[in-house]
Amino acid sequence: MINFNKPYFSGKELEYIQQAIANGHISGNGDFTQRCHRYFEEKYGFSKVLLTTSCTDALEMAAMLLDIKPGDEVIIPSFTFVSTALAFVRQGAEIVFADSRSDHPGIDEDKIEQLITPKTKAIVVVHYSGVSCDMDKIMNLSKKHNLMVVEDAACAINSFYKEKPLGSIGHLGCFSFHETKNIQCGEGGMLAINDSQFVKRAEIIWEKGTNRAEFFRGEVNKYGWVDIGSSFLLSEIQAAFLFAQLENNDKIQKRRIEIWNKYYEALKPFDGKFFRLPVIPDFASNNAHSFYLIMNSQNERDTFIKEMKINNAQAVFHYQSLHKSQFYISRYNGCDLPFSDKYSDCLVRLPFYFEMKEKAVIEKVKYYFSSLEI
Ligand SMILES: Cc1ncc(COP(=O)(O)O)c(C=O)c1O
Repeated sequence: MINFNKPYFSGKELEYIQQAIANGHISGNGDFTQRCHRYFEEKYGFSKVLLTTSCTDALEMAAMLLDIKPGDEVIIPSFTFVSTALAFVRQGAEIVFADSRSDHPGIDEDKIEQLITPKTKAIVVVHYSGVSCDMDKIMNLSKKHNLMVVEDAACAINSFYKEKPLGSIGHLGCFSFHETKNIQCGEGGMLAINDSQFVKRAEIIWEKGTNRAEFFRGEVNKYGWVDIGSSFLLSEIQAAFLFAQLENNDKIQKRRIEIWNKYYEALKPFDGKFFRLPVIPDFASNNAHSFYLIMNSQNERDTFIKEMKINNAQAVFHYQSLHKSQFYISRYNGCDLPFSDKYSDCLVRLPFYFEMKEKAVIEKVKYYFSSLEI
């Protein structure tokens, strides 16, 4: 079976984990954490980042930092992973779900303004499959209505909007290093703090509501409980693993782009017949996080997944509209979100990982669609 995902290993992970053990510091915020922080700040120009145990945690930190309270409204696309909304629901927010674009699964930027009310506190955008939303439009809305913007950049490391790194444009950016992501450490994440007003408090929330980070820098002579927070730090064992991946960031990226382009070229002749190929808007770059097709119907999508499985390749669907989830449907009183539903029903992702033999998958996919043409 050709699996949908297989995590990439650079070969240096164990050596660096051994170094972390030898350093005698395997909890969070040690040498490898600092090296990862420096890497992100130098390579992408983030002014402040904090490694977290997941993107879910980074989103939870964002919701705490924005002081989201019961009664606040937060605009979020319905076509996303549960964590995007859950982090804000935990603070008591009302989620106002927005639809996706017709040409791309990202949030429809032109339909956000009509959702803004006096209670709206923030807009959370998701860069689907690492492809940017139109951030100029989003940031203009933020300025006009005095709203905070969180970028859920879970899949968007190494991707750009008009040459600006994703996750660096909104007030806060949240990344995932889960094993399905381009750069991974099993479970992991990062919060990018782009608005300096949040930096001090972010460190406190990160360190269980204490000012321990200041203490370790020698800025205060004892530390204690000063605010809300939780245990959001990534351990040094995972930071060491992550650093081994970061050293190979460019190599990983090059290979993923190669796979993506091969899929795209090989499947172009079928575009518009049985499916639509992914669209990369002019303002966005492509970090080749995944390769997906948008089929004509749910039935056709599910049949394709079944046939690929029989043919020993794992194709998978993706997010399911959150406004229709078991958890939210009874609370939802907004309008229909037809594009979110369309991507829930019709989008399918093909196997995608560094070591894969893409030629074998391409042959299977072409074989399937050629047989439909007869
Ligand atoms: C858009 C989005 N946000 C958040 C997450 C959660 O990431 P993590 O597993 O690192 O918590 C995911 C997971 O894939 C995701 O796709």
